[in-house]
Amino acid sequence: MRGYEVKDLGLAALGVARLEWADREMPVLRAIRERFARERPLEGVQIAACVHVTAESGNLARALISGGARLIMVASNPLSTQDDIAAALVKEFDISVFALKGEDVETYHRHIRIALDANPQVLIDDGADLVATLVREYPSLAEQVIGTTEETTTGVIRLRAMAARELLRFPVIAVNDSQTKHLFDNRYGTGQSTWDGILRATNLLVAGKHVVVVGYGMCGRGVAMRARGLGARVIVTEVDPIRAIEAVMDGYDVMPIREAARLGEIFITVTGNRHVIDREHLLAMKDGAILCNAGHFDVEINLDALREIADGPRKIRDFVEEYRIRQTGRRLLVLAEGRLVNLAAAEGHPPAVMDLSFANQALAVEYLVKRRGTIPPGIHVLPLEIDQEIARLKLRAMGIEIDELTEEQREYLTTWTCGT
Ligand code: NAD
Ligand code: ADE
Repeated sequence: MRGYEVKDLGLAALGVARLEWADREMPVLRAIRERFARERPLEGVQIAACVHVTAESGNLARALISGGARLIMVASNPLSTQDDIAAALVKEFDISVFALKGEDVETYHRHIRIALDANPQVLIDDGADLVATLVREYPSLAEQVIGTTEETTTGVIRLRAMAARELLRFPVIAVNDSQTKHLFDNRYGTGQSTWDGILRATNLLVAGKHVVVVGYGMCGRGVAMRARGLGARVIVTEVDPIRAIEAVMDGYDVMPIREAARLGEIFITVTGNRHVIDREHLLAMKDGAILCNAGHFDVEINLDALREIADGPRKIRDFVEEYRIRQTGRRLLVLAEGRLVNLAAAEGHPPAVMDLSFANQALAVEYLVKRRGTIPPGIHVLPLEIDQEIARLKLRAMGIEIDELTEEQREYLTTWTCGT
């Protein structure tokens, strides 16, 4: 068995059962795994993946090793690891996993360094901590890196910042920017799994409550849509005027966070930005307000300010901590320490949606390896044909057929002479 650090190898049987359960809902990734097993496009390639270690990413790992890759996997968040999956990947699939649910920040960074010490040629990142550590601490490794892939919006933002400072010496595939990723994972995945996390943590009734969704991007749209489906009275806050009009026309109340702070009973941040709920907003909130975050990092709610103005935290239930504001005596409840509530308090997005995201990841790795040395450094998106092929495979697996353009229609769409 290769090197590993997981909670308990005795959980492996449970992990295998959950991997197989998820696999039933991941037909596109499964087809890729079967093709990889025949063609071995990743033979001998050392991959380091810094991802949420879940049943779904476990199936991505299976696809990569079927393609001939050697893989080391570490967590992309201290609270998101599923320990049974980590155990199964080590024991049943001989994958090197360094990830524990609840690991401290020091362990998290130590694991990332272990992944880089394995001299990876391809990096799979979710949030860009792996690449950022490479750039800061392992600059000479860049020479052997064929390329990296990035799963999430925040990671792509960080990578663009690195590219602007000429720090990226290899190609990056922004998997998040594939249409079959962000239109589905960010919206329907985050929309459902964020509520799954909130409900598992609190067991509260959502109907009739004022829910404030901070940020109406891809994730925010999904979270607001599902809040409405649960019967909430939904308020959206935004800084982008176009997204704000979209929220208005989608039928939500839109207002500044300083006003929403007084009205909300449940607050969900999904901006990828910092301190979008700040000290003054915390001071204005009602007694019993629930705060949580589904954005990538735990920076969206100003928890340092909360600790300064409040006593606590006092554990109420798993993933629910209460703070009492000294000035007013009001109690605020923070879920999952302000980290990704859907992955900490629930299981992340369901496999059917991660099927699309991780099909993109597997094909992005193959794309990088097949074109090694030919793709310029910087940020790239997978070609539209690959995106469309993933969508086609998913539709086929769902038993859904669509139409094709006729020759006449194809021609019409390229002419200018037919008008009124
Ligand atoms: P996005 O860019 O589509 O949307 C973010 C929105 O937040 C934008 O409309 C932006 O204008 C708005 N915003 C920024 N600052 C704001 C502020 N101060 N107040 C109100 N709105 C503000 O990004 P996205 O794809 O929706 O991703 C959002 C975050 O969620 C990122 O951190 C991303 O990495 C993360 N993410 C999490 C999961 C998950 O599993 N929980 C899945 C996908 C993405
Ligand atoms: N990001 C969101 N949901 C996820 C999941 N189920 N597995 C891995 N990464 C995720």
